[in-house]
Amino acid sequence: MNRSGQYISQISGYKAFIPSPLPPNPPIKMDESMNQLLSEANIALGRLDTMGYLLPNVDYIIAMYVRKEALLSSQIEGTQASLDDIFEYESQVPIKNTLDVEEVVNYIKALNHGLKRIEEFPMSVRLIKEIHNILLSQTRGMDKTPGEFKRSQNWIGPPGCTLKHASFVPPPPAETLDAMSELELYLHKTHKLPILITCALIHYQFETIHPFLDGNGRIGRLLITFYLCWKKVMQKPLLYLSYYFKLHRQEYYDRLNLVREKGDYEQWINFFLKGIIWASESALETIKQVLALADIHKKKLIKEKISSPIAIGLLDYLFTKPHVSTHDIAEHFQMTFQTAQTLINHFVELEILREITGKKRGRRYSYWQYLEYLSEGTNL
Ligand SMILES: Nc1ncnc2c1ncn2[C@@H]1O[C@H](COP(=O)(O)OP(=O)(O)O)[C@@H](O)[C@H]1O
Ligand SMILES: [Mg+2]
Repeated sequence: MNRSGQYISQISGYKAFIPSPLPPNPPIKMDESMNQLLSEANIALGRLDTMGYLLPNVDYIIAMYVRKEALLSSQIEGTQASLDDIFEYESQVPIKNTLDVEEVVNYIKALNHGLKRIEEFPMSVRLIKEIHNILLSQTRGMDKTPGEFKRSQNWIGPPGCTLKHASFVPPPPAETLDAMSELELYLHKTHKLPILITCALIHYQFETIHPFLDGNGRIGRLLITFYLCWKKVMQKPLLYLSYYFKLHRQEYYDRLNLVREKGDYEQWINFFLKGIIWASESALETIKQVLALADIHKKKLIKEKISSPIAIGLLDYLFTKPHVSTHDIAEHFQMTFQTAQTLINHFVELEILREITGKKRGRRYSYWQYLEYLSEGTNL
């Protein structure tokens, strides 16, 4: 028994961890270094959030970040897909790793759905189940009871490991609903602790309850974004932690375990706050790069006298759809195939677009420089 919970022997012989409800008791000790990290995290997140306010059109960047987050969060769990695969799939181009990509596409849907829902609906067990249902529907997770809590014991460990050799055994099914109801209460409480800290605790607690048969890692990471938006810490959903967790995956797991084993919430909170700082700063950096790129390319078009409203329109369009075919452009801008091809050829000459199929027919073009900025960290 420690402050985070206790291992309790189950009738069938194994021990399962029953977490203590949040908040921790004795309370979180906010020492000097935690306060320092918290203040840095607030500043970094504030800067990013201001960017969200000031930019007239951040929606395309958010849409890209949503895809990137979906990809990275799924990659942490072994999904094999790239950002290019997602764009190809969205353009209905045949791809090899359909199952992996569908998993990411479900994640995108789940994230967008949740963001919309929390605008008018409180965060709740019901919403979490709803999101889980979307995440696991109609693809690889289908047999893992989408939208339902576990009905059999689950455990965490290396692939193929048995319950006996598990590194962590979460609460049994019979305890799951209670533990989740406690977490729901905690979500709604007015807290003495700063929101970024309660957010760290909520992610830890969710991973520890592990209420679903599968998808717990991904849902737990979605909760971070939902919670911060729901609590209006961010006006626009620009902050995502999966890249940080992917970079420090083993440490991420070890630190979650350390809370369970030693009741040491503080080291987990510090790790989490460092993630907020790092992710806010890198999101801000990417946004700056993207804005600079838009500026450079617009100036280039003007200099080369290819600055008709349609040419500028195409450039804007590429920020929302960085993979295109001539057909896409012809259709979107309601022009002939030939006119669209001429425009694309100009963009290729200026190295704004690159042809990616190497084929004569069915050519596709990539807004490669933009994708280079966005895809940072998504390589397998
Ligand atoms: N000690 C641990 N080792 C591995 N994963 C852990 C550990 N503790 C918690 N986890 C969490 O469990 C998640 C994996 O659970 P799982 O239900 O398979 O989720 P998903 O299907 O989204 O991968 C990890 O992403 C991580 O968040
Ligand atoms: Mg899994």
